[in-house]
Amino acid sequence: MDIKIYPDPVLFEDCTDVNNIDDNLISVVSEMIETMKSVDGIGLAAPQVGLSKRFFVCLDFEDENKSQTLVLINPKITKMEGRVESKEGCLSIPGFYEYVYRYEDIEIKALDLNGNDIVYTPRGMQSVVFQHEYDHLDGVLFPDRMSQIKKDIFMKKINKEFR
Ligand code: CO
Repeated sequence: MDIKIYPDPVLFEDCTDVNNIDDNLISVVSEMIETMKSVDGIGLAAPQVGLSKRFFVCLDFEDENKSQTLVLINPKITKMEGRVESKEGCLSIPGFYEYVYRYEDIEIKALDLNGNDIVYTPRGMQSVVFQHEYDHLDGVLFPDRMSQIKKDIFMKKINKEFR
Protein backbone atom coordinates (compact mmCIF):
# COMPACT_ATOMS: atom_id res chain seq x y z
CA MET A 1 0.00 0.00 0.00
CA ASP A 2 1.11 3.55 -0.69
CA ILE A 3 1.35 5.80 2.33
CA LYS A 4 -0.26 9.19 1.75
CA ILE A 5 2.15 12.04 2.38
CA TYR A 6 1.35 15.53 3.73
CA PRO A 7 -0.42 17.62 2.42
CA ASP A 8 -2.61 14.94 0.79
CA PRO A 9 -6.20 16.09 1.50
CA VAL A 10 -7.27 12.64 2.75
CA LEU A 11 -5.12 13.30 5.84
CA PHE A 12 -7.38 16.20 6.83
CA GLU A 13 -10.73 14.47 6.49
CA ASP A 14 -13.07 13.47 9.28
CA CYS A 15 -13.29 9.70 8.93
CA THR A 16 -16.58 7.83 9.16
CA ASP A 17 -17.37 4.81 11.32
CA VAL A 18 -16.75 1.30 10.09
CA ASN A 19 -20.17 -0.32 9.62
CA ASN A 20 -19.13 -3.85 8.75
CA ILE A 21 -16.22 -5.91 9.91
CA ASP A 22 -16.09 -8.04 6.78
CA ASP A 23 -13.50 -9.96 4.76
CA ASN A 24 -12.56 -6.81 2.90
CA LEU A 25 -11.74 -4.97 6.13
CA ILE A 26 -9.79 -7.96 7.42
CA SER A 27 -7.62 -8.06 4.30
CA VAL A 28 -7.12 -4.27 4.32
CA VAL A 29 -6.01 -4.49 7.94
CA SER A 30 -3.48 -7.20 7.18
CA GLU A 31 -2.11 -5.18 4.26
CA MET A 32 -1.82 -2.14 6.53
CA ILE A 33 0.09 -4.15 9.13
CA GLU A 34 2.46 -5.38 6.43
CA THR A 35 2.92 -1.82 5.12
CA MET A 36 3.55 -0.47 8.63
CA LYS A 37 6.14 -3.15 9.38
CA SER A 38 7.86 -2.71 6.00
CA VAL A 39 8.76 0.86 6.95
CA ASP A 40 9.43 0.12 10.65
CA GLY A 41 6.38 2.11 11.67
CA ILE A 42 4.73 1.77 15.06
CA GLY A 43 1.24 2.80 13.96
CA LEU A 44 -0.76 3.41 10.80
CA ALA A 45 -4.25 4.87 10.50
CA ALA A 46 -6.70 4.18 7.65
CA PRO A 47 -6.56 7.71 6.14
CA GLN A 48 -2.80 7.29 5.76
CA VAL A 49 -3.53 4.66 3.10
CA GLY A 50 -6.34 6.72 1.59
CA LEU A 51 -9.31 5.27 3.48
CA SER A 52 -11.52 7.74 5.35
CA LYS A 53 -12.62 5.14 7.89
CA ARG A 54 -12.27 5.05 11.66
CA PHE A 55 -9.68 2.38 12.36
CA PHE A 56 -5.96 2.05 12.88
CA VAL A 57 -3.30 -0.54 13.49
CA CYS A 58 -0.31 -0.23 15.80
CA LEU A 59 2.29 -2.26 17.64
CA ASP A 60 1.32 -3.92 20.90
CA PHE A 61 3.86 -2.46 23.30
CA GLU A 62 3.13 -5.12 25.89
CA ASP A 63 4.78 -7.58 23.55
CA GLU A 64 8.52 -7.37 24.21
CA ASN A 65 9.37 -8.62 20.73
CA LYS A 66 7.25 -5.86 19.17
CA SER A 67 5.80 -8.39 16.75
CA GLN A 68 2.19 -8.36 17.96
CA THR A 69 -0.13 -5.71 16.59
CA LEU A 70 -3.43 -4.23 17.69
CA VAL A 71 -6.36 -3.15 15.54
CA LEU A 72 -8.74 -0.54 16.94
CA ILE A 73 -12.01 -0.06 15.06
CA ASN A 74 -14.35 2.87 15.78
CA PRO A 75 -12.26 3.86 18.81
CA LYS A 76 -13.55 6.33 21.41
CA ILE A 77 -11.38 7.97 24.04
CA THR A 78 -13.45 7.87 27.20
CA LYS A 79 -10.96 9.21 29.79
CA MET A 80 -8.00 11.55 29.52
CA GLU A 81 -5.70 12.53 32.35
CA GLY A 82 -2.35 14.16 32.93
CA ARG A 83 0.06 15.54 30.39
CA VAL A 84 3.30 14.24 28.90
CA GLU A 85 5.69 15.49 26.26
CA SER A 86 6.52 12.94 23.60
CA LYS A 87 8.87 13.15 20.63
CA GLU A 88 6.88 12.08 17.61
CA GLY A 89 7.12 11.56 13.91
CA CYS A 90 4.58 10.39 11.36
CA LEU A 91 4.84 8.13 8.32
CA SER A 92 2.86 10.82 6.44
CA ILE A 93 5.42 13.52 7.34
CA PRO A 94 8.58 11.48 6.82
CA GLY A 95 11.86 12.69 8.26
CA PHE A 96 10.49 15.23 10.73
CA TYR A 97 10.33 14.75 14.51
CA GLU A 98 9.25 17.11 17.25
CA TYR A 99 7.99 17.18 20.82
CA VAL A 100 4.24 17.37 21.28
CA TYR A 101 1.88 17.27 24.24
CA ARG A 102 -0.27 14.24 24.98
CA TYR A 103 -2.44 12.96 27.80
CA GLU A 104 -0.51 10.70 30.11
CA ASP A 105 -3.32 8.24 30.81
CA ILE A 106 -6.30 7.50 28.67
CA GLU A 107 -9.07 4.96 28.47
CA ILE A 108 -10.04 4.02 24.95
CA LYS A 109 -12.86 1.75 23.83
CA ALA A 110 -12.86 0.08 20.45
CA LEU A 111 -13.95 -2.97 18.50
CA ASP A 112 -11.40 -5.59 17.53
CA LEU A 113 -11.45 -7.52 14.26
CA ASN A 114 -13.86 -10.05 15.77
CA GLY A 115 -16.31 -7.28 16.61
CA ASN A 116 -15.64 -7.57 20.34
CA ASP A 117 -15.72 -4.47 22.56
CA ILE A 118 -12.30 -3.92 24.08
CA VAL A 119 -11.37 -1.35 26.73
CA TYR A 120 -7.72 -0.32 26.84
CA THR A 121 -6.02 1.63 29.61
CA PRO A 122 -2.64 2.09 27.94
CA ARG A 123 0.46 3.55 29.55
CA GLY A 124 3.60 5.19 28.21
CA MET A 125 4.31 4.72 24.50
CA GLN A 126 1.13 2.73 23.92
CA SER A 127 -0.96 5.63 25.20
CA VAL A 128 0.90 8.13 23.02
CA VAL A 129 0.63 5.95 19.90
CA PHE A 130 -3.10 5.40 20.45
CA GLN A 131 -3.61 9.18 20.73
CA HIS A 132 -1.48 9.90 17.63
CA GLU A 133 -3.36 7.34 15.52
CA TYR A 134 -6.74 8.35 16.94
CA ASP A 135 -6.05 11.95 15.90
CA HIS A 136 -5.58 10.81 12.28
CA LEU A 137 -9.23 9.68 12.28
CA ASP A 138 -10.27 13.27 13.00
CA GLY A 139 -7.92 14.67 10.35
CA VAL A 140 -5.55 15.89 13.04
CA LEU A 141 -1.77 15.60 12.56
CA PHE A 142 0.85 15.73 15.29
CA PRO A 143 1.92 19.36 14.66
CA ASP A 144 -1.58 20.29 15.89
CA ARG A 145 -0.48 19.04 19.33
CA MET A 146 2.51 21.38 19.54
CA SER A 147 2.65 24.72 21.26
CA GLN A 148 1.70 27.43 18.73
CA ILE A 149 5.21 28.81 18.39
CA LYS A 150 6.71 25.37 17.81
CA LYS A 151 3.94 24.54 15.34
CA ASP A 152 4.55 27.70 13.29
CA ILE A 153 8.23 26.86 12.90
CA PHE A 154 7.51 23.21 12.17
CA MET A 155 4.84 23.97 9.56
CA LYS A 156 7.20 26.36 7.76
CA LYS A 157 9.77 23.59 7.55
CA ILE A 158 7.42 20.90 6.30
CA ASN A 159 5.64 23.22 3.87
CA LYS A 160 9.02 23.95 2.32
CA GLU A 161 9.76 20.23 2.05
CA PHE A 162 6.43 18.85 0.85
CA ARG A 163 4.56 21.56 -1.07
CO1 CO B 1 0.89 9.68 12.00
